[in-house]
Amino acid sequence: MMVRWLDVLLVSALSFAAYSYFYGNVDSSSIRGKKVLVTGASQNIGEEIAYQYAKREAKIVITARREQVLKKVAAKCLELGAAQAEYIVADMADETTYKSLVEKSIKIMGGLDILVLNHVEARLFRWNGSTEDLEYLKKSTAVNYWSYVEIATAAMPALKQSEGQLIVVGSQGGRPAMPNIAAYGATKAAVIVFFSSLSMELMLKGEDYPSITICYLGAIDTVGARWATKMKLIKGYPLADAASGIIEGGLRRERYVYLPGYVRFTPLIREINPSFVDKALLYLIYGA
Ligand SMILES: NC(=O)c1ccc[n+]([C@@H]2O[C@H](COP(=O)([O-])OP(=O)(O)OC[C@H]3O[C@@H](n4cnc5c(N)ncnc54)[C@H](OP(=O)(O)O)[C@@H]3O)[C@@H](O)[C@H]2O)c1
Repeated sequence: MMVRWLDVLLVSALSFAAYSYFYGNVDSSSIRGKKVLVTGASQNIGEEIAYQYAKREAKIVITARREQVLKKVAAKCLELGAAQAEYIVADMADETTYKSLVEKSIKIMGGLDILVLNHVEARLFRWNGSTEDLEYLKKSTAVNYWSYVEIATAAMPALKQSEGQLIVVGSQGGRPAMPNIAAYGATKAAVIVFFSSLSMELMLKGEDYPSITICYLGAIDTVGARWATKMKLIKGYPLADAASGIIEGGLRRERYVYLPGYVRFTPLIREINPSFVDKALLYLIYGA
């Protein structure tokens, strides 16, 4: 009996070691020459994602609103090794400018293998129901949710054909509620539910491609997360690790990626006792 338990332990340890080895070693070389469209790539996470695809010698189209910045990011992508780097200026609040984005990208690169939806309109404020608040919610819904759905829908046929990847950058802000993110959090929650549902519908239809990877990000070391990292409890996750985690999650065709890893558990912790956890958060963050 003793030997059997040891066998079980040994097999489990070996399986875990093998899993960790293969999980930790993705073959990034398969990205070489892949045709990648990254949205919101003029700064922070999107910019870093573009650089990391560039280092892996992908063909890249980046997009955002600020042309001069995009020009610099595209030039740096070429310096870093991108097989091709172009930019398209598009405002995701304006359907007329982003509707042709996928078509133009396919024309530029000769196809589409990976779409990374990352752009965001994010402002922290306390909701007071003013006309400005309502207008802002409409705008952020258009940018953070509706444009994601439209762009993904337009890209589906090409991504199916290339057996490609759709990577959606989500946020922990779309899971447990927090004060000051009513507009932002609601749009991120909508994105998560939409793409999780879509991914299950593809499974129902027996369609393996495109793979859909939804990334739950916690506080990443960027200006946008300073409010959270000011708390001693939270440390900003390194930008480079966030970008590589997103890219590798797509490569592994994972359905969900959690960066940093603990964000997987935060909604669970809240569900244990929402009243207590909400009060604890208000105390820790706002001293209330
Ligand atoms: N930073 C974090 O700690 C954190 C945490 C959780 C989740 N996330 C998620 O990670 C993603 C990237 O976050 P980030 O912190 O890197 O964001 P960011 O620094 O605010 O950058 C947002 C990007 O989106 C573009 N953008 C904004 N409005 C746009 C519009 N109307 N049309 C086209 N492009 C627009 C911006 O470029 P232009 O201004 O040039 O248009 C910029 O490139 C987002 O989806 C966010 O929800 C971030």
